Amino acid sequence: MANGVNVPERLAREWLATRRSSTPVATAVDPRDPMWRVIEQQPATAPEVRRVEYLRAGAEAADAVLGALARARIDAAGARVLDFGCGYGRVTRHLVGRIGVVEACDVDADAVAFVRDTLGVEARVIGTEPRTPGRYDAVVCTSVLNHFPEARFDAWVAALAPAVADGGVLVFSTHDPASLAGVATDGDYTFVRQPGGHGAGADDYGTALVAPARVVERLRSTGLASIDRRARGLWFLQDLWLATDRPLRRDVWRDPTAVRGRIDRVRIDADGALVAEGWAASLDAGAFRGVELRRDAPDGPVVGAIEAGLPSPGQAAFHGRDDFANAGWRVSGTVDGPVDALWLVATDRARGIALDVRWLGRAAGATAVSE
Ligand SMILES: C[S@@+](CC[C@H](N)C(=O)[O-])C[C@H]1O[C@@H](n2cnc3c(N)ncnc32)[C@H](O)[C@@H]1O
Repeated sequence: MANGVNVPERLAREWLATRRSSTPVATAVDPRDPMWRVIEQQPATAPEVRRVEYLRAGAEAADAVLGALARARIDAAGARVLDFGCGYGRVTRHLVGRIGVVEACDVDADAVAFVRDTLGVEARVIGTEPRTPGRYDAVVCTSVLNHFPEARFDAWVAALAPAVADGGVLVFSTHDPASLAGVATDGDYTFVRQPGGHGAGADDYGTALVAPARVVERLRSTGLASIDRRARGLWFLQDLWLATDRPLRRDVWRDPTAVRGRIDRVRIDADGALVAEGWAASLDAGAFRGVELRRDAPDGPVVGAIEAGLPSPGQAAFHGRDDFANAGWRVSGTVDGPVDALWLVATDRARGIALDVRWLGRAAGATAVSE
């Protein structure tokens, strides 16, 4: 708390405002949400910005879904969409108000209750056994099928394809093979069990690595033969798949996560000298130089001078992209007084994307803040 304001909530709302959307988005997070717990366990993510991270991940996925509808020539305002494996509505909440009718389902009854009661979405509990859940203009599975063992993956693809109405689209994600480079693969489908996995037994839920050609082959067998795979198109992490029975538009693709970046380290000395370091990259263009650091709010004053194009071999390795090897940046400057937060902001004004925020606390004066 600072000045009586709920700071995490305020930062989340400031971040949402950078999206320049008039559609309200629920900011309530259920601490039981495993997606929230993943963020909680990331040491690099300061507690005060967790809610921003959570909202941002959901918003990026929702943008991907809206992009998929556009590519499949589906009018979002008139569409009926199922968020399959909705969890606690991390993505669902960003679809509401942007799509005509949003429904949701999950095997986790607590998650379904949250989505229904807190987000006001028609949500239902479904069984783990593959079954066609209805018929929709789009069926969306963000980070769901990539957790299934082989037989279950195949069976669910076969069950979900008939849930896609004529001209509709199936949107789902798989792990990018390059993101699991350390995992020993076993043919074209590798499954690593994850004990205690969401709503299913350890044998049914884990991390799956499936060869893209195999995904294509499965989709074709269902009749959804117009297929697109965007490597790392979801969160710069998972491959995003679109499958439909009609030709996909190629001209409207906009990367849902146009630019991604992070403030990795910040140091402010007692005299106000600030040094911050991080990285920024775009899937389309590789290392991205158009970022700046702003203090307190996404439209706050620019802090210091930025040096871009610095080596970032870790990002190149993690993303499996050589053109991320010089995505590093460094800012040196001086700040006056306590700093509420630092925002890494893309300077692409047309999009106005706020990339990252790092909470710095309210020290008495601009005193040292470190990792
Ligand atoms: C990694 S979470 C993703 C949740 C949500 N889509 C998101 O992106 O935040 C995977 C979700 O799939 C759900 N799930 C697992 N098996 C399922 C099944 N057979 N049918 C529907 N949902 C399932 C889990 O309960 C969990 O909520």
